[in-house]
Amino acid sequence: MDFSKKLSVLKQNHLYRSRKVSESAQDTQIVINGKSVTNFCSNDYLSLANHPLVKEALKQGVDEFGVGSGASHLVSGHSRAHHNLEDALAEYTGQARTLLFSTGYSANLGIFSALKDELDWILQDKLNHASLIDGNQLSGLPLQRYLHNDMTSLKKKASKQSGQGMIVTDTVFSMDGDRAKIDDLQKIGNFSNAILMQDDAHGFGVFKPNIPKNSIYMATLGKAAGTMGAFVAGNDDFIEFLIQKSRPYIYTTAISPAICVATLKSLVLIKQGEQKSKLLANIDFFRNFSNALDLPMSNSHSAIQPLIIGGSKKALKISQSLFEQGFYVGAIRPPTVPKGTERLRITLNVNHTQSQIEQLLMCIKNAL
Ligand SMILES: Cc1ncc(COP(=O)(O)O)c(C=O)c1O
Repeated sequence: MDFSKKLSVLKQNHLYRSRKVSESAQDTQIVINGKSVTNFCSNDYLSLANHPLVKEALKQGVDEFGVGSGASHLVSGHSRAHHNLEDALAEYTGQARTLLFSTGYSANLGIFSALKDELDWILQDKLNHASLIDGNQLSGLPLQRYLHNDMTSLKKKASKQSGQGMIVTDTVFSMDGDRAKIDDLQKIGNFSNAILMQDDAHGFGVFKPNIPKNSIYMATLGKAAGTMGAFVAGNDDFIEFLIQKSRPYIYTTAISPAICVATLKSLVLIKQGEQKSKLLANIDFFRNFSNALDLPMSNSHSAIQPLIIGGSKKALKISQSLFEQGFYVGAIRPPTVPKGTERLRITLNVNHTQSQIEQLLMCIKNAL
């Protein structure tokens, strides 16, 4: 196996992935390789990852529950801290119960793993997150895709299925920032004997969850909530079924209980809504200013604002040039996005100033 040759091919095609080492806490301004840059590529939309009250709660959590959970949830790792967070998330989402997972990736794998003997067909949006596709494929369940956010395409495909189905969608699309039409999806699901599953990784904490009756809702806690982990919400029987059948739930160590104490504090701040209002104002400001500059932004009203560049080499070059000018913006390339739609993925957060947003957009305008 010639890994060196494979790596060279990735480099030649501008598809090589590399990591930048951050030397400061996750925040609007971060230090990378000794250089201070404004961070426009974090999912910490509400700036809770380094919030003093969330950090304080984490420390209290460590004092009360220690650092590690010590075991999986079904052995001895399920603490009062995990349980309280599950209850608080159930109340917040208006669902009977929730179940914590270590990551969003494992929660998605966990849902498909539990449902592997229950479904005859699955239809997924063409732009769904990789973890939904991987979960589907690893479970061995049949996978079909419908055109992105296209209800006609979905209806056409659903009408050809028989047996129990599932329709799966990102709620806010991770690389495009647009939102799924949850009510329409639910109607099509009702009509075609399919349960709806949504992955609200990028909407949780920013938009009010829209969870139709008897549907499956998954959200992550490592983005707007600023900590880590994920949860699935649903009715009592479904959550109990996951506990019995979901292998990524059963066979893994529970996340740190202290993280759950910190996440409980994040949830209090999310409910107060101050961060969210400021973020929404930043999104509006960004959209108005980019319009004024005539930048070809996509139609997104979330914190994720993509600018399609087309071509990995060009996307990387602009991202690098922005970095040199003090702005950290990721270049997203295949296989994360389809070939030809390589892009800058700008993410906004509550603490960006209008001046930082203006400067970034002017630099992008010059670079194009
Ligand atoms: C839509 C979506 N689902 C799931 C995940 C996975 O979540 P986590 O990072 O908690 O594993 C992500 C993370 O990038 C995501 O964007």
